Amino acid sequence: MATRRLGLIMNGVTGRMGYNQHLVRSIVAIRQAGGVTLANGDRVMPDPILVGRNAAKLEAMARQHDIARWTTDLDAALADPNDEVFFDSATTQLRAGLVGRALDAGKHVYCEKPVAESLQVALALARKAKASGLKHGVVQDKLFLPGLRKLKLLIESGYFGRILSVRGEFGYWVFEGDWGMPAQRPSWNYRKTDGGGIILDMLCHWRYVLDNLFGPVRAVSCLGANHVPERVDEQGETYRADADDAAYATFEIEGGIVAHINSSWCVRVRRDDLVTFQVDGTHGSAVAGLTSCVTQHRVNTPKPVWNPDMPQTIDFFGTWEALPDNLIYENGFKLQWEDFIRHVAEDAPWKFDLLEGAKGVQLAELGLKSWAERRWLDVPELEV
Ligand SMILES: NC(=O)c1ccc[n+]([C@@H]2O[C@H](COP(=O)([O-])OP(=O)(O)OC[C@H]3O[C@@H](n4cnc5c(N)ncnc54)[C@H](O)[C@@H]3O)[C@@H](O)[C@H]2O)c1
Repeated sequence: MATRRLGLIMNGVTGRMGYNQHLVRSIVAIRQAGGVTLANGDRVMPDPILVGRNAAKLEAMARQHDIARWTTDLDAALADPNDEVFFDSATTQLRAGLVGRALDAGKHVYCEKPVAESLQVALALARKAKASGLKHGVVQDKLFLPGLRKLKLLIESGYFGRILSVRGEFGYWVFEGDWGMPAQRPSWNYRKTDGGGIILDMLCHWRYVLDNLFGPVRAVSCLGANHVPERVDEQGETYRADADDAAYATFEIEGGIVAHINSSWCVRVRRDDLVTFQVDGTHGSAVAGLTSCVTQHRVNTPKPVWNPDMPQTIDFFGTWEALPDNLIYENGFKLQWEDFIRHVAEDAPWKFDLLEGAKGVQLAELGLKSWAERRWLDVPELEV
């Protein structure tokens, strides 16, 4: 069995997602496991070159993870024909431009979401990628979460009967930074001018989750909010947090399923996980978190009666049964990286291309428009 090298330009690895999920949990883990195995038994070993602005940080990271190459010169990296793939997880605002340049340089491209800040730019990029004949992809990590994979298993098994509705709750309290507890997310997320805002961030995710689990999203109604208008940044400076930090959105799915998803950085958690999806069907219901999924079949459904004069007698949380961990669930970012590497190396099937990425941006843009115009909006089909 042969091992083949895959030269990989990684931009944005000093960031939170780039470092934790893409470098350490994905590429370093794949290298430690001996590469990605192809259908014919051969292996592909990613050989990354880390790209960024801060030479000292890059050098330290490369040394710590046994990576030979790093540079602050992106142009030179793109000009090297020995590196076939370009990956970007840096700032959203520069993404489409960088991915476009990488396509011009003849690289296959893979990137974080959102692929762009506007649908027009995202679609132009998808068209450019298609015309190039190169491989292209966008991160759609939530589909690889164990909780959502269990939910998909339930859907495919016919467990739900007819699915009626989906209730998503995403969020947790992101500290303001002004009273002794520093914020736990980068400050750019809370500034409009830096590409922040929860609608652009999260509706991209909800598009591929809903499309792939329940059916195509056909319409959206979204109410955004800017609940916490002032925060303190990484340098201890107070700034105007003018981006939307909560979104209350309802979606119509083809076939009649109604989905409602609350996304918020201004909510305290009293539920099973940081995101939960409750699915109610005629034959049963389920609630999926990041890793677990619990079910309640119709034969196990308690029969509450409304009586405000009596304290509640039913332990509702106790009436659900967890799905077993019959499969081994690896890190979702790593699984998707392995799929993309197989797509590049042996043309293995791949769904999550830049058009799918553009669909996420489309839903975010329509969500913002729905909020501004205070009305429902249809979600038109996209074509490249
Ligand atoms: N898939 C997911 O679940 C998920 C979660 C969070 C963020 N993201 C996406 O990942 C991206 C990064 O988010 P993050 O939370 O890691 O942010 P971060 O602020 O931690 O990282 C941003 C990175 O971009 C670099 N950068 C910033 N401005 C730059 C510039 N002008 N030129 C070159 N590099 C620059 C920074 O040095 C850093 O490496 C965003 O596009 C975000 O939407 C995805």
